[in-house]
Amino acid sequence: MAVPARVPRHIAMIMDGNGRWARARGLPRVEGHRHGVERIHPVALDCARRGVEYLTLYAFSTENWRRPRKEVRALLRLLSSLMDEEAETCVRDNLRLRLVGTVQRLDTALQEKVHEAIEVTRENTGLTLCLAFDYGSRDEIVRAARELILRGIEPDGMTEETVAQCLFTADMPDVDLLVRCGGEIRLSNFLMWQVAYAELYFTEVLWPDFGEPELESALAEFAGRNRRYGALKNEEIR
Ligand code: IPE
Ligand code: IPE
Ligand code: MG
Repeated sequence: MAVPARVPRHIAMIMDGNGRWARARGLPRVEGHRHGVERIHPVALDCARRGVEYLTLYAFSTENWRRPRKEVRALLRLLSSLMDEEAETCVRDNLRLRLVGTVQRLDTALQEKVHEAIEVTRENTGLTLCLAFDYGSRDEIVRAARELILRGIEPDGMTEETVAQCLFTADMPDVDLLVRCGGEIRLSNFLMWQVAYAELYFTEVLWPDFGEPELESALAEFAGRNRRYGALKNEEIR
């Protein structure tokens, strides 16, 4: 009997390459983002079908505010329409929506929309679709440090667990598989604490083209990796 393939519990994806996808078609960059957003729900469903429990998608980094105002505004508008759609489709498909990052820099109406979408999907029991928006790993770690001080944690009480509980991803498992599309081989300030022992998978495929075949390749690659966590497997000891 075939042994079922190991499936990552938590996949994190850096959705990169929207601009290049658009440029290759002679379209404005914003069109690339629009097509990119359309991939989010189908990819989440593909992951859910395969037994993945958490999918964290990098949608907007703390550094992306450096982009031209027009592009930032378009990305905020896309987040707004995504929230409208996901509030419905996540309820329909039993996905739970979550956000990592901050909402403070968004306008009040958008903040409310985000909270509402999270709220209406809170009781769902399927995959957690976690959107990283205005997210940066260093920002997250600084905020965690402040929170640890506010909680009055003494130096001796400071452990990896107490730090992890002050990150945006508190109560989520560590990332098992990190996928970056778009051809760049870097983290760009994404989940640096949480990917400490993740398997890394990089592909040239641009995010608006990302679909089941590429997900299959990433999962197959993951299933074949030997995760040692610094130790040795029994068969490796002699
Ligand atoms: C990723 O696509 C989306 C965001 C960073 C918001 P890019 O916009 O970075 O696309 P490229 O890398 O320029 O092709
Ligand atoms: C990373 O992509 C951020 C997101 C995908 C949201 P970038 O395109 O911003 O990363 P760099 O600038 O190439 O490192
Ligand atoms: Mg990019």
